[in-house]
Amino acid sequence: MSVKPEINPNKIVVFTGAGISAESGLQTFRDSNGLWNNVDVADVATPEAWEANPQFVLDFYNTRRKEAFEASPNPAHYAVAKLEEKYEVVVITQNVDDLHERAGSSKVIHVHGLLKNARSSVNDALLYLYDQGKPIQMGDLCEEGSQLRPDIVWFGEQIHHYETARKQLVAAGKVLVVGTSLSVFPAADILKKARYNAEKIIVTKQIDKRPAGFKLLRGNASSLIPSIVDDWLHGRSVS
Ligand code: APR
Repeated sequence: MSVKPEINPNKIVVFTGAGISAESGLQTFRDSNGLWNNVDVADVATPEAWEANPQFVLDFYNTRRKEAFEASPNPAHYAVAKLEEKYEVVVITQNVDDLHERAGSSKVIHVHGLLKNARSSVNDALLYLYDQGKPIQMGDLCEEGSQLRPDIVWFGEQIHHYETARKQLVAAGKVLVVGTSLSVFPAADILKKARYNAEKIIVTKQIDKRPAGFKLLRGNASSLIPSIVDDWLHGRSVS
């Protein structure tokens, strides 16, 4: 029976989803105008889709790469980065854009991959950082001669950094969840490690099931997150 470490009041975990980047102009997945309303997941976000029609998959992700590179962080991303003035902050994100990093967050764990990377379609260890929005084309090969693919975790594939992410929650004194429907697993399970006596807030526009023990604030991340961060930077609990 492992003894749980003491809660660290100075440690904050911020867990984010597509909703935090919505006001940067990037589509979410399950809102009315979401990505999965316009294209079938099975055609672009599974290993089978990659086998069947790699060009169609590359076109889908090249469009998203370009949009992500042309987008800018919004006040919610900057507010999350500002927390580092006073706290030890780890951002765990399902997002594949790098807006948290561009807003100044220094510790970001991407559990679903990153659009700005490409990787070998055979050897996962061969990762390549692609420059500003460069599309991945058929015929772009890794050093071992295999076709490059987007460094995105597709449905049915192993999530990235799962145990590392879960470990962050065990000592976190505060947990802020932003812009996620918590409908995809195992990513949503990461939050199960949050401590009952941590301060836990979820900010979203709508969610089917509020996670146990979380205070739910409905609204836009770009307006709600800066005020939450201001409370925490001034030692106040969120009212
Ligand atoms: N401010 C705050 N929340 C918002 C905003 C906003 N401006 N706009 C949308 N939201 C909320 C929605 O209400 C919803 O709860 O963001 C959430 C977006 O949910 P999804 O579209 O399901 O996105 P996400 O939870 O990130 O999806 C998780 O699903 O397809 C996979 O890999 C993909 O990482 C993604 C995962």
